[in-house]
Amino acid sequence: MTALEVICALAHDSAVAIVITDAKVEKPGPTILYANAAFSRLVGREAAELVGSNPRFMQGRETRRPALDQFAQALAAGERFHGYLTNYRPDGSKYVAEIDCHPLRNAEGRVEYFLAFEREVVRRRGRPWGGTASRFEPASVSDESLTPDLKLLGAFQRR
Ligand SMILES: Cc1cc2nc3c(=O)[nH]c(=O)nc-3n(C[C@H](O)[C@H](O)[C@H](O)COP(=O)(O)O)c2cc1C
Repeated sequence: MTALEVICALAHDSAVAIVITDAKVEKPGPTILYANAAFSRLVGREAAELVGSNPRFMQGRETRRPALDQFAQALAAGERFHGYLTNYRPDGSKYVAEIDCHPLRNAEGRVEYFLAFEREVVRRRGRPWGGTASRFEPASVSDESLTPDLKLLGAFQRR
């Protein structure tokens, strides 16, 4: 089994949406190599449709360019991106996605893949959450929905 196959097998039944791309980040890349069932449900497309496409298809009118530029810079630098983007489903519905995207490096330190944990966040009623910039909180408010394994991986954890 390759390392990628192991990761895909682990991601398969995860309740958290997971998508893996190659490391070619310039347009028309990155290309989706794997998406688990939770990711298909989140974005409203079958895994077979997703594989071979690039994640930009989720963008629309309200997807903020500054956030995409920040994402692009992190990818080009081989760094983690943890942020929020407005994504669109094929039926036109939109949602705010919390995206925690990690570079996966080989033994030589070269980035081979990117793996993102993604989840929908909802606007909170009442007081803002977490201070100034955070107008959103995760739909699953606590980390309880994350399996202990994902917690160990540090998914969605602040650093
Ligand atoms: C693993 C992974 C997941 C991504 N998920 C999303 C996503 O859900 N929504 C989105 O708009 N862009 C997503 N992107 C970012 C786009 O693919 C692209 O990198 C971004 O639009 C910035 O590049 P650009 O300025 O060339 O468009 C993802 C990228 C990677 C590597």
